[in-house]
Amino acid sequence: MSFTDLQSIDHAVHACTNCALSEQRTKAVPGEGASNAGIMFIGEGPGYHEDRQGRPFVGPAGQLLDKLLASIGLKRADVYITNMVKCRPPSNRDPFPGEIQACSGYLDAQVKLIAPRVIVTLGRHSFGRFFPSESISKARGKARTWKGQTIFPIYHPAAAGRTAQSGADARARRGLPEAEDDAGEQCCPCSAAGAGRAAAFATLDVLAVMRRVSPCPGCV
Ligand code: URA
Ligand code: SF4
Repeated sequence: MSFTDLQSIDHAVHACTNCALSEQRTKAVPGEGASNAGIMFIGEGPGYHEDRQGRPFVGPAGQLLDKLLASIGLKRADVYITNMVKCRPPSNRDPFPGEIQACSGYLDAQVKLIAPRVIVTLGRHSFGRFFPSESISKARGKARTWKGQTIFPIYHPAAAGRTAQSGADARARRGLPEAEDDAGEQCCPCSAAGAGRAAAFATLDVLAVMRRVSPCPGCV
């Protein structure tokens, strides 16, 4: 597929019947954000709320993503947010490999047009699209290169939401203070300033990406 702008991708996605996910969707969800975004977030696929609104990450996972962005001083409009598959899998099941494949031309075209400095993969499936044989739990939080593109894998915000509490429990069991894990991640007081603890794991990871991608002027 060859596209010259994001709008034509959006139109093609809305009309797409390349896979069976088209049959049950309410609205396709192409993605949204800045066409020149430095950071592109790739989730798995639309859920219930996304399917109804035609927008990515607008349900509970989206609220966590918003918090995560806010904690590093970014708004949704500053980044680009999309998913591997653009139509909701029924009952939020994992997308099938054939569906991911059928949809991949749109994602490839979005990556090519936006040319982000960093792709942040959200969760196991999105990570697996680039590194199929590796484990997200080992890979998360470290920048990687895939065909010349920097990829930064983090846990899915929904999973981070579910595990934030168990993570806090685990740290407590290990006798670590709440902020121990991020002590080495903060590059300067300004990045620390807004760093809420809401989506602890994901937030800390993205702070690390930001430090790498665009170190703040005060600390370079
Ligand atoms: N989860 C995802 O992976 N993508 C969305 O758009 C919403 C929730
Ligand atoms: Fe087309 Fe992707 Fe939707 Fe399948 S998921 S119908 S390939 S837009």
